[in-house]
This record gives sequence, structure tokens and C-alpha cells, in this order.
Amino acid sequence: MSLPSINPTKTEAWKALENHFQDIKAQKMQGVFLEDSDRANRLCIAWQDFYLDYSKNRITDKTISLLLKLADDVKLKEAITQQFAGKKINKTEDRAVLHTALRDFENMKPEVKTTLQRMKVFSEAISGGAHKGYSGKAITDVVNIGIGGSHLGPDMVVEALQYYRNHIKTHFVANIDGDHVHETLKCLNPETTLFIIVSKSFTTQETITNASFIRNWFFKKTGEKDIQKHFVAVAANESGAIEFGISKENIFPMKDWVGGRFSLWSSVGLSICCAVGFDNFEKMLKGAFEMDKHFNNTDFDKNIPVILALLSIWYNNFFKAESEAVVAYSQYLDKLVPYLQQAVMESNGKSVDRNGAKITYETGTIVWGNVGSNSQHAYFQLMHQGTKLIPTDFVGFSESLYGTIENHQILMANFVAQTEALWEGTHSKPIENSFKYFEGNKPTNSILIKKLTPENLGSLIAMYEHKLFVQGIIWNIFSYDQWGVELGKTVAKGTLTALETTAFDTIKNTSTANLLTKISTF
Ligand code: F6P
Repeated sequence: MSLPSINPTKTEAWKALENHFQDIKAQKMQGVFLEDSDRANRLCIAWQDFYLDYSKNRITDKTISLLLKLADDVKLKEAITQQFAGKKINKTEDRAVLHTALRDFENMKPEVKTTLQRMKVFSEAISGGAHKGYSGKAITDVVNIGIGGSHLGPDMVVEALQYYRNHIKTHFVANIDGDHVHETLKCLNPETTLFIIVSKSFTTQETITNASFIRNWFFKKTGEKDIQKHFVAVAANESGAIEFGISKENIFPMKDWVGGRFSLWSSVGLSICCAVGFDNFEKMLKGAFEMDKHFNNTDFDKNIPVILALLSIWYNNFFKAESEAVVAYSQYLDKLVPYLQQAVMESNGKSVDRNGAKITYETGTIVWGNVGSNSQHAYFQLMHQGTKLIPTDFVGFSESLYGTIENHQILMANFVAQTEALWEGTHSKPIENSFKYFEGNKPTNSILIKKLTPENLGSLIAMYEHKLFVQGIIWNIFSYDQWGVELGKTVAKGTLTALETTAFDTIKNTSTANLLTKISTF
């Protein structure tokens, strides 16, 4: 059984949306709240601790019903069922896509339970001090060595759940930039540091090079002391980790049915467990599971990830918006955007459909953004008065964690004010000064969450995972492979050889050859 493969532009709904877009595209929609006093109450979804207000969008009820029809026309429900049932929907890699199985507390696979139990025992031994380093001292620092999905998720979550952290300090080494590795090692004591090498393939150039460098540093500092007390691995390629020198009992498994960018729920989350405790990690999984059930069981018109995905398609494919922004009004969510950039753009940056044919419509959205209110003092100018349409998700929390009322009220007043200013602009006022004119009509989604708890963070991440899946289904692409990252890796082998051997004449592209020559002779 494979995913339905339907060209969305050939569906009835798409054609109707194209016609409908002609009616909407030039409309100044600010008046809709006055004309329709129920709009804000209708175009919203309240679910658990979440409240999505999507009424400040350039849509009418008809837009939503046509977008929902599009979801039906491309057989979205069937696709969701296939994913959750573990069908091999990642066809080009012949794999199932089951990151949801890592948090399925009603029907948990025994192997998932076993791994979670190992993560609990290990992380509690680290944070509780029972696990000692070679000199008998407890561990104080944990370094996650990994890149992409083996880095961005844990790094983002550790930052997001900082409030819930224990005394263990965490560090992330991802970049092959040796200067950064040196900077990280500079403040570490090998006696009290645990290194977690995270690589599903255990062949990633950056990770293996950095891990080897760090292992040498460890040997040099300690006189080849017991590496097993200080190095563990998270890998699907167990033999690769063993070959590196990690003992079998120090390897935490990854499964081929978990994609790298969806793997923070797996043993890739070991650094999260060490930093915030296993119980909080488990709460995060439970929050994600709640969102999975919401996504799987709720009618599409009240389904948060589905509605967000459809709105994004509306802007991407009909308004031809070039990008979308995510602005979280919480410093804790500082690393949400880089995380989403991999999740969304590695998944949906595709231009061939599920039949292998070249696509003639726009796919993958560009995601960017930063935290509020900082962003207001940086790029919001362009959002308010620039020429580009940038649909934006505003994410924020009703309660602060420390109960600092004054700051939090200012923060959230800004959140709401920005959505209103972007929507309303100054359209109702006469234009006295064109430089101070705000066109308004700028769409936003407000994703308001009660509080930044591990559960709600889990739900939020899962919400975005499901959103990108829905978009991939509608665009008729395979969201779960990432062949586009391979070519650069191959070319880098040649450029590295050229740098090592200074045989620049072997490089055909003269720009590349010149650059390599400069690098080695500057
Ligand atoms: O190069 C892209 C990628 O394969 C990502 O999909 C993945 O998250 C990352 O590299 C790291 O891969 P690994 O966990 O195998 O080291």
C-alpha cells in the first residue's frame, strides 16, 4: 500500500480555490470583524491548553470550506491512517515513518519501552551522581556531539525547558568548525564530562570527525583512561559505533523508522533527559501523544495542524507568498526556528512529485523568524511596510514561569498588538503622510498556550510535525526523505581532497578552483 498520489492542481477543489482567489486577492479585509461579529469566535480552535485564533487571515468561510475539500480531494485522511499504521510511506527509502510510535503510550512497542527505561536509568545515574567518571568523580557536564536532527531537537528542547533543568550543564558540538570544538572543550574537565555521540548513520562527516577529535583530546588529557565511562553513542548503525570504540552496552538504539529530524523523541533525547530529568522528558512525549490523538481523531475543520497547513498552502500556492515567519514570544523558544527550519525545509523542499514527475506548482515554504519582542525591533519593519506578504505564526504563553506579571503583560500585550497592527494597519485613517502609512491586511495565526510546560512543548512540536506532513501530502511529495543533502556531501569530498593535496587543477569549475587556491594561499 502506498500513499495516494494526486496532483493537487488537478482537483476540483484547487480549481475552485483558483477562482475564489480572484475574489479575495485584492480585498482589504480589515472590515470583516465589523461586518461579522462572530468571526473571531468561529475561526478559532480551543484544544486542551491551546487556543488557535486564525481569524486574522485573508480568508472567508468559503476559503476554509474549499481548503477542507482540497484535503479530502487529495485523500489526506487515508494518508494519515497509513502513516500511523506504520506503512512504508517513505517510499524512496523504503521505510515506515513512526516517530509517533515513540510516544504512543496506549500501544507502546516493547522495544520503545525498553529503550525509554534504559534512558531513565542512565540519565538518573548521571544526574544523581551514581555514574562516576574514571577518577571517581560524578559527571557535571554532558556534551552532545551530533548534527542536523541529531542536534537541533535536543538543543532546542534543553533551552526551552531551561526552567525545569537540574545542575548538569549541557553543551552541543555540531559544527565541523574546529574553533567551536576548541571553545567548548576549553571549559571542560575530562574527569567529569560525558560525551554522547549522536548519529543515526554513524558516518556523518562532521560528527565522526568531531567525535574523533574529542576522543583524542580525552586520551591526551587523561593518559588513555577509561573511555567507556565517558563516551556513549546513540546510533542505528551499531557496528559503526562499536568500531569507533563504544562498547555495546553504551549504545542506545535508533530505528530506521525514525527520521533524523523527527528523532528528539527517541534516544536522541538522551541529553534532554540528563538536563531536565527523565520525568520531564516523558511528560514532553505525553504532550506530543496528545497532539497525535488530536491530529488523528479530530475532524479537519477543528484540527489544529490541518488548519495551519491549509492556511499555509493558501498563501504559498495562491498568494504566492515566498516565506512564512514564526515568532515565539518566549526567550525559552529561542531555538525553535532553527529546529523548524530543518523539520520543514528538509522535509518539503522537493520539486518532484510522488510519481517522480517534475512539479509545476510551488512546494516547501521558507521558514524564518526569531523571538518576540526582540523581532519587533529588527525585521518587523519589513513585515509592516515592506512589499512582501509574510504570513506569520505568533506563539506565546498566557502565564510566565516565574510569575513576573508586569513583564509578562508587556510581552503578551505586544504579541496581541502586533497581530492587530499587522492586520488593521492604518487603513481606516486618511493618508496624511505616506511614509507613516500601514497597509495592514497582513495575515497572522495566534497560537496561545497556557504555560510553557514539558507537555505543552511536546504538543507544540508535534503540531508543527503534523502540519508539515499535511502540506507534503497536499503537494504530492515525499516529505520523509532528504536526497537533496547528498550532492553537497559528494562534492565536498572532491574539494577536501583538492585542499589536502593542493591539486586544484583537478577541479573543473574555475570559480571553485580559484576559491580553493585562495583558501590555501591567503
Ligand atoms: O545530511 C542530512 C542528515 O542526514 C539529516 O537528515 C540528519 O538529521 C543529519 O544529517 C544527521 O545524520 P546522522 O544522525 O546520521 O549523523
